[in-house]
Amino acid sequence: MFPAYTLDTLAQSTLLSPPARLSVLGDPVAHSLSPQMHNPALAACGIDASYIRLHVPPNEFLKALRALRDLGFIGTNVTIPHKFTALDSVDQVDPAARRLGAVNTILFQPDGTTLGRNSDGPGFVRTVKEEFQADLKDLRVLLLGAGGGAGGAVAVQSALENCQQLILTNRTESKAAALAESLRDLLPGDRCRTLAWTPEALAGILPGIDLIINGTSLGMSPEDPALLPDGVLTSNHLVYDMVYKPLTTPLLTAARAAGARAINGLPMLLWQGVQSFEWWFNRPAPVAAMRTGLEDAIAGKV
Ligand SMILES: NC(=O)c1ccc[n+]([C@@H]2O[C@H](COP(=O)([O-])OP(=O)(O)OC[C@H]3O[C@@H](n4cnc5c(N)ncnc54)[C@H](OP(=O)(O)O)[C@@H]3O)[C@@H](O)[C@H]2O)c1
Repeated sequence: MFPAYTLDTLAQSTLLSPPARLSVLGDPVAHSLSPQMHNPALAACGIDASYIRLHVPPNEFLKALRALRDLGFIGTNVTIPHKFTALDSVDQVDPAARRLGAVNTILFQPDGTTLGRNSDGPGFVRTVKEEFQADLKDLRVLLLGAGGGAGGAVAVQSALENCQQLILTNRTESKAAALAESLRDLLPGDRCRTLAWTPEALAGILPGIDLIINGTSLGMSPEDPALLPDGVLTSNHLVYDMVYKPLTTPLLTAARAAGARAINGLPMLLWQGVQSFEWWFNRPAPVAAMRTGLEDAIAGKV
């Protein structure tokens, strides 16, 4: 497989066997694990299509969409930096994607128009359901890192799912405050609020929290400072670290040592992919094949 096609080489991808009919479009894009997840799914379902990476600079997004449509693509994923541009570039946007403020999945419809959706939100809901057997509507959620794109998406989705309480904390507090304000209509009063990014404030809130989410990039490097003070996690906590490189972070190690159920960022990558697949093909996705594909990719086998 090519690491990534460009607009100049894209036409060659339809000569692949099976022909390219799905893609992930980004800049950079070579790191994306989506082909290793979707190609086994297409094969498992006997669908005559393959999934490619397409490198598209920011100013060529619309040109790329037209090229994909003209080549008969079924749809595409969209990643950095195009998720926001995509919202304004498609013909229709579904209401959940509009609320999340970004599009990561595009469907080319039979009438030639484009529909933009966002599988990150539903992928997060399914992650919590499938990996923790829990429902967001029953949970008091603490989000560490409410200033980034990933954290923002899980915060909006938690509010859309009517979670019991949503506590937002971030190194730059003003970003958490702006996010809390934008969710006030969904979670009125004290149900959504900010918390100071200090060890004392975190230690004080944790006994009243069910689900702790790390939406920061802390944990990717061994030199990163600890996210939580020592001794505050218990076996009652569900801990979800969105980081997936490495697969085990200091937060996950601490959570497991305390007897908490804890997962890394891989399941969300999987479940957002499952959701996109189901939107494109209107059928259940072969989850096991997709999970194995992702795990093999992370292990460097494919
Ligand atoms: N599992 C998945 O499917 C998935 C999907 C997307 C992303 N992710 C992961 O989620 C993480 C965040 O990604 P993103 O795209 O949202 O990144 P981003 O937009 O750059 O946001 C980074 C967040 O981390 C915080 N942060 C960064 N360095 C920090 C530090 N030294 N101390 C405290 N806070 C710090 C930032 O706080 P400030 O606002 O103060 O800068 C911000 O809230 C990454 O690890 C990424 O790999 C996972």
